[in-house]
Amino acid sequence: MPASDWWRSAAIYQVYVRSFADGDGDGTGDLAGVRARLPYLAALGVDALWFTPWYLSPLADGGYDVADYRTIDPAFGTLAEAEKVIAEARDLGMRTIVDIVPNHVSDRHPWFRAALAAGPGSPERQLFHFRPGRGEHGELPPGDWPSQFNGADTWTRTPDGEWYLHLFTPQQPDLNWDHPEVRREHEEVLRFWFERGVAGVRIDSAALLVKDPALPDLAGRPPGPWPGPAQGAGARAGAGAAHPYIDRDELHSIYRSWRAVADEYGAVFVGEVWLPDSERFARYLRPDELHTAFNFGFLSCPWDAERLRACVEETLAEHAPVGAPATWVLCNHDVTRTVTRYGRAETGFDFAAKAFGIPTDLALGTRRARAAALLTLALPGSVYVYQGEELGLPEAEIPLGRIQDPMHFRSGGTDPGRDGCRVPLPWTAEPWNDPWLPQPADWATYAADRQEGRPDSMLTLYRNALRLRRAAGGFGGGSLEWLHAPPGVLAFTRPDGLLCVVNLSGTPVPLPRHTHVLLGSAPEEGAGLLGPDTAVWLRT
Ligand code: NOJ
Repeated sequence: MPASDWWRSAAIYQVYVRSFADGDGDGTGDLAGVRARLPYLAALGVDALWFTPWYLSPLADGGYDVADYRTIDPAFGTLAEAEKVIAEARDLGMRTIVDIVPNHVSDRHPWFRAALAAGPGSPERQLFHFRPGRGEHGELPPGDWPSQFNGADTWTRTPDGEWYLHLFTPQQPDLNWDHPEVRREHEEVLRFWFERGVAGVRIDSAALLVKDPALPDLAGRPPGPWPGPAQGAGARAGAGAAHPYIDRDELHSIYRSWRAVADEYGAVFVGEVWLPDSERFARYLRPDELHTAFNFGFLSCPWDAERLRACVEETLAEHAPVGAPATWVLCNHDVTRTVTRYGRAETGFDFAAKAFGIPTDLALGTRRARAAALLTLALPGSVYVYQGEELGLPEAEIPLGRIQDPMHFRSGGTDPGRDGCRVPLPWTAEPWNDPWLPQPADWATYAADRQEGRPDSMLTLYRNALRLRRAAGGFGGGSLEWLHAPPGVLAFTRPDGLLCVVNLSGTPVPLPRHTHVLLGSAPEEGAGLLGPDTAVWLRT
């Protein structure tokens, strides 16, 4: 595979900067912290780092409310430091992916401030979706679209009486993608970061940008897609070309022009595309559009052999016609951490099912997460590791008074929100000084330095798996062939004589014929037996 195709099989580590590592001891992660931990990431064996938004932001939605793309938030550092992160990571063999949020900006963005100041009918307001209200005095919102954040309002009234649209929080006004200036500015932002050596861009809410200019009422149609049904087996029916704001056909011309810009720099895209329909999903991955998109079907899939196999098959089938590699994701900064999810009665992920106090068996969840890591890293395509996944961190229960995520507040307090997967990483048993989210008291056991060198730790498993995956070559690319296996067991071969077996049944099963064991997620149960919730990599 040519080096320029690195993204087809890369292992990509997601850095949520605010919680990754704190360089100045103020309780908020920062770029100094990232720089200090780059050797850790290189030793982990990942090929690229995806940084969630690090730009100037009031942090109304954890940085997904960007006030200026060309400035690093002072809480994180400076542009010069970001350039150093990119260069130093590159020197250690890791590429950088930045996060662009084109659907909306912060209400503190100069464009939105100018629009508010300029008043109704002004050219400044054309960059957004401003409308008069309904009702006798315009006192009712102009439309019925429910928010992507727990169905709350999507319209906010300004002091002069007009309303503006925001699919997420009121602090995130939606941009008008029919306006040429919006398109021009985003291409400049892409160039700004590509010029600084960035190798890729993650596109936030990639299927939401374009709206039907009439902003027609949904009138009962499904809202989706985020949070909502993922593509893949069992997904609910959803959007489509005619939906007023999801997956509109006009989006593709935007991504074609973005692709032309990326091609000038040899850079790549990964889209955040939550869509129920495989065929519609694959359109984003046509050769002149995005290189990859997150596999939310896999991330949402329960710990069940048949469902997982169906998901893998469907994923490979939907990517094949467009020649795009699949991506494999178990969790990210928006969803319940894997160890917790797999330790519950409901092992799939669904935003709608989030609640406080769900009983969780962490030992079981950890055992399954270890097996899932080997399954995921054996599949053809690129894989994502969310910070802390390699430490086996569970979802934290955040005390009520400390929750910051707007999803919690917009649910009326029923949804715990996403802070539980965003807690600062335990590097040592000593907690961070005044962390922006509290670290649970028992997290010392997960500390990276305690896991160092321990043969049974999650960190050691991830390091070994990533090292083997890179060295074997056969894991990331090429085809996958299923082997006949007992019920509840997944077994498939990969190029170079690699064989992955995952036992999701409740009983030990004999290992298939092999020359030697490369790596197991748990010790063998007696000679030649693979225990329940265990995976193994074999060479044949
Ligand atoms: C998806 C991001 O991953 C999430 O964190 C954010 O809240 C929404 N998009 C809105 O930008």
